[in-house]
Amino acid sequence: MDHGSELVVCMGSGAQREAAEALARRTGAPLTDAAGDGLTLLIDKSGVSLTGGGLSLRGDFEQMLHRISDGRLSHEMLVKIAKTKTPHPVAVDATAGLGEDSLLLAAAGYEVVMFERDAVIAALLRDALRRAKKHPALREIAARMRLIEGNSVELISSAVSQPELIYLDPMFPSRRKSGLIGKKLQLIQKLEQPCADEEELLNAALNAKPAKIIIKRPLKGGFLAGRKPNYSVKGKAIRYDCVLPQR
Ligand SMILES: C[S@@+](CC[C@H](N)C(=O)[O-])C[C@H]1O[C@@H](n2cnc3c(N)ncnc32)[C@H](O)[C@@H]1O
Repeated sequence: MDHGSELVVCMGSGAQREAAEALARRTGAPLTDAAGDGLTLLIDKSGVSLTGGGLSLRGDFEQMLHRISDGRLSHEMLVKIAKTKTPHPVAVDATAGLGEDSLLLAAAGYEVVMFERDAVIAALLRDALRRAKKHPALREIAARMRLIEGNSVELISSAVSQPELIYLDPMFPSRRKSGLIGKKLQLIQKLEQPCADEEELLNAALNAKPAKIIIKRPLKGGFLAGRKPNYSVKGKAIRYDCVLPQR
C-alpha cells in the first residue's frame, strides 16, 4: 500500500541513513528530519515507531511475556486450537500485523512464516522481531519467526510447502466502529484497510494444503468469504473458525 501522501519517514538521532532511506523507499514516503503533520514513521537509535496525533506505537513482544510464561501459554485459545502432534510443525500467518498471534504460535513450538503486505506495519514488525531476537526470554521463540513482506495471496504457495497450519486474521470492517479501541488500534487503523479480498485469501490458504486453517473472527461476525468452517471455537469476544482442507 502506498502511504506516500499522508506519511513521512523521519530520521531521528542515531539512525543509520541507509536504513532510513530503505524505509522511505519501501513505504513510498518522503524522508525528513522532523515529524510530519500526519503519520510519522520514526527511525532512531532505539528502532522504528509510528507516531501521530500525540500517539506513538512500536511493535512490542515484551508486553506479550505475561501471556507466554509461567504455564499461561497453554491457556491461550489459539494455542489450544493449534495444538498438533506433528514434529517441527510449520505455521503460516498470512495476515501478520504486529505479529502477536504469531508469537503465541512460535512460543507453542511452531516455525512461523509471517506475511505482512503493509510496508509500515511490516517495518514495525521487523523492528519488534529484531529486538526480540536480543531479549533473553524471547530470543529462542523469535528465532522461529520469519517475516516476508508482501501479499500472502500471491506468495504463500511459493514460499511454504504444505504447512501444518495457516492462520488468517484479516481486518474485519466492524473493528473500525468500536468506541473503545486502544491507542495501538487507533494508529494501526489509519493504515489498515478492511479485507477486500476474502475469497482470494481463503483460496490461497486452501491451495497451500495445510492440515488446518484457523480464521479469527469477531464473535458474531460472518464466515470469511462466506465459507462454513468444519467447526468453530468461541471465546468471549472472538471466534476461531477452523477449516480442515482435503489433503
Ligand atoms: C488484524 S491484523 C492482524 C493482527 C495479528 N493477528 C496480530 O496478532 O497482531 C491484519 C493484518 O493483515 C495484513 N494483511 C491483510 N491481508 C493481507 C495479505 N493478503 N497479505 C499480507 N498481509 C495482509 C494487514 O495489512 C494487517 O496488518
